Amino acid sequence: MVAQKMYELGTKKSTIRTIFEYGRQRAAEVGEENIYDFSLGNPNVPTPDFVKQAVIDIMSTMSPTAVHGYTIAPGNPEVREKLAASINERFGTNFAGRNLFMTSGAAAAITICFKALCEENNEFIAFAPFFPEYRCFVESVGGKLVVVPAKTDDFQIDFTAFEKLITGQTKAVIVNSPNNPSGAVYSEDTIRQLASLLRAKEKEYGHPIFIISDEPYREIAFEGYTVPYVTKYYENTLVCYSYSKSFSLPGERIGYIVVPDEVADFGKIFGAVAGAARVLTHVNAPSLWQLVVAHCAGKPSDIETYKRNGKLLYEGLKAAGFECVRPQGAFYLFPKALEEDDNAFCERAKKYDLLLVPGTDFGCPGYFRAAYCIKTETIEKSLPRFKELAAEYRG
Ligand SMILES: Cc1ncc(COP(=O)(O)O)c(C=O)c1O
Repeated sequence: MVAQKMYELGTKKSTIRTIFEYGRQRAAEVGEENIYDFSLGNPNVPTPDFVKQAVIDIMSTMSPTAVHGYTIAPGNPEVREKLAASINERFGTNFAGRNLFMTSGAAAAITICFKALCEENNEFIAFAPFFPEYRCFVESVGGKLVVVPAKTDDFQIDFTAFEKLITGQTKAVIVNSPNNPSGAVYSEDTIRQLASLLRAKEKEYGHPIFIISDEPYREIAFEGYTVPYVTKYYENTLVCYSYSKSFSLPGERIGYIVVPDEVADFGKIFGAVAGAARVLTHVNAPSLWQLVVAHCAGKPSDIETYKRNGKLLYEGLKAAGFECVRPQGAFYLFPKALEEDDNAFCERAKKYDLLLVPGTDFGCPGYFRAAYCIKTETIEKSLPRFKELAAEYRG
């Protein structure tokens, strides 16, 4: 009667959502202030005032039909020009408006890229730990997701394992840096190595292999870490950007895809992106929000809270005896669980009202994710709980 796969996707709750709902229920029993909910990646930094001001300015100066009307499918040409100029200024690139396709956030952008690129039997490679939605996005367009196991000492790329998984069917590689869930930022050296390996493989197989650079956390990189602009290292790169995290606008659904002139056959790729957006009904990203982000182009993100929270949680967990890579960006910590079974560990953590997400969900068993985009005070109060949990394991 219905597409079984769609029914399953629509009714089976994600682990993150299940944990979050458990938290809501538990908060009703014991009080919000006694729950340490590290489950969701929903930014807690308020949307900057300049965004509000841009909305007010636009609404009060432009005609309603101009603000709320349809734009052309890839988005308002002036908006795209302005955003391209802002990217060029920041990263020394050379884009024009024609290189941008406005989307409803990064999720739409990535899905469009998968759909635009996927031919029969194509494979898409992701590096564990990875954003779990990649799997259903890739599978929904008929592709196969191939996962490179995690390099858990620093969450960069295990190039030996990666190389073995590249085949003649590999169409693209998805990179996400700063990373959800590891908090790692890929170094320039990692990006260079990635580019050089993919160039060699393109030659070997005689066709392009793309990088899809999923960048919703680009602006959230801490001191000492810079996020290389991948198109400058590798020609066949499509960038998927979003304002969900950088301007705390996840509910407004706005972002873009960059298709550089240098990709193998720009006209074909941009055309396929437009076609994929059309069938996925992701054309004409929200008009008001296109104008707003263009108004705010180049304005800084407020990352102080994430920096402070990351440091506090990292140091607290280290003091409690957890193994963990220092936060470099995004707003997640990905420590080693205190037992092999990360699901059992997260279940046990619930006894202390610590709500954590098992690493298995991100393709990296034995670890757990703690999203620290929450009140600093909640993190402070949670640290004795982590200590008690660790003490229980020590016996
Ligand atoms: C790695 C990653 N990619 C994509 C997305 C989707 O972001 P958006 O809200 O822009 O669709 C998220 C959201 O959490 C994410 O963590």
